[in-house]
Amino acid sequence: MTMTQSDRRYHITTFGCQMNKADSERMAGILEEMGFNWSEDPNEADLILYNTCTIRDNAEQKVYSYLGRQAKRKQEHPELTLIVAGCVAQQEGEKLLRRVPELDLVMGPQHANRLEDLLQQVFDGNQVVATEPVHIIEDITKPRRESKVTAWVNVIYGCNERCTYCVVPSVRGVEQSRNREAIRAEMEELGRLGYKEITLLGQNIDAYGRDLPGVTATGRHLHTLTDLLYYVHDVSGVERLRFATSHPRYFTERLIKACYELPKVCEHFHIPFQSGDNELLKAMKRGYTHERYRQIIEKIREYMPDASISADAIVGFPGETEAQFENTLKLVDDIGFDQLNTAAYSPRPGTPAAIWDNQLSEEVKSDRLQRLNHLVSQKAADRSGRYLGRIEEVLVEDVNPKDPTQVMGRTRGNRLTFFKGNIEQLKGQLIKVKVTEVRAFSLTGVPIEKTELVPLF
Ligand code: SAH
Ligand code: SF4
Ligand code: F3S
Repeated sequence: MTMTQSDRRYHITTFGCQMNKADSERMAGILEEMGFNWSEDPNEADLILYNTCTIRDNAEQKVYSYLGRQAKRKQEHPELTLIVAGCVAQQEGEKLLRRVPELDLVMGPQHANRLEDLLQQVFDGNQVVATEPVHIIEDITKPRRESKVTAWVNVIYGCNERCTYCVVPSVRGVEQSRNREAIRAEMEELGRLGYKEITLLGQNIDAYGRDLPGVTATGRHLHTLTDLLYYVHDVSGVERLRFATSHPRYFTERLIKACYELPKVCEHFHIPFQSGDNELLKAMKRGYTHERYRQIIEKIREYMPDASISADAIVGFPGETEAQFENTLKLVDDIGFDQLNTAAYSPRPGTPAAIWDNQLSEEVKSDRLQRLNHLVSQKAADRSGRYLGRIEEVLVEDVNPKDPTQVMGRTRGNRLTFFKGNIEQLKGQLIKVKVTEVRAFSLTGVPIEKTELVPLF
């Protein structure tokens, strides 16, 4: 097989979290470097890659229904290359080949940067499974990024925690931090390309650096997330920095102070708490109490009173009583989250909690999920209320897909904001917007600044 594939087209469908989205952008970059072109329609592609998620059962099942359709197509078009990447690939491995024999390649998330090598083996006539743990090679690929304004930069892969409900450690492997020099170099390149906002990524980003060599005289790791923020905050061109996901167990006052001191770091924190009940937190092996969680949020608000707080929570964890669930409601009521991702507990293969005998019924879980979601939108609407009449800085990302006369972007606190304007002129610009309308999860406003309207892209 030659390396010129210019007439060949690829399609990637991505499920799951930002980690997967970032991996997909790197794999798309590799495919384009190999000469493949993007096809919006999967049915016209010669190569289809599903980058999969298995965090809950419904995420996993979605993949099989997509895959079934393309496996059928392959029976009529044997030249079609079918790939399953990501977390389901890692979890199922060889079993996927038995279930879908039409597959050419099954590759775990640690192998994303090796896509070209693996494809070469496929083109040589092999059916390939790549799920063994590997040291993730430093990014030599140029990602094909979805946005020209905001970008993700991985700083740590994997997770060393052992939350009893969670499949991530077994599918993403052990923590591997990138060197700060490599991170900064990638950010500088993004700054040169005109990117304005960067989100540093890790499943447990507060763990950044604990696998890197070096400790201070007091025994602290030399390269913590806090140190990394000080090291990269002045990259030129980049106006905003974010990071996710934070684990309450490792969230330090030093980190809060750094966010307060560094002007580019946005006042938005995504810190999942999972449950507001101490016994459940213990059963989940989260390593903190709800009191400790509350202290962290208080500390953040001491330094940055207007900070936005978002989180993830699970309802219906095995054994959760009505009273314990109410402790979660209470925490949500007390904190007042700007946004909360909620989910009903889903037993995952190979995780401790999946085989406990105190599982709750689907009815109880969905009833609790509904009650929690109801409270979440109420609280989010309250939180949006504080923006009314205020002037907020919005980084314009795109046109409003529901109204082409409007553009959309985010405030520093991460609220989606719409206002009238021309995307050609505004894309990538930081615009001061007076907020005139608020909804639970978005805002509408009017631009108040005459900016130099220089088209950037
Ligand atoms: N590393 C992050 C989040 C990882 S997964 C953290 O530690 O918080 C994203 C979210 O999916 C989790 O925060 C959790 O709320 C949810 N989740 C993970 N496993 C789940 C399961 N088995 N059932 C339901 N929700 C789950
Ligand atoms: Fe999963 Fe816990 Fe790791 Fe988050 S910290 S990815 S919830 S094991
Ligand atoms: Fe899903 Fe894997 Fe992310 S299981 S949430 S895609 S780490």
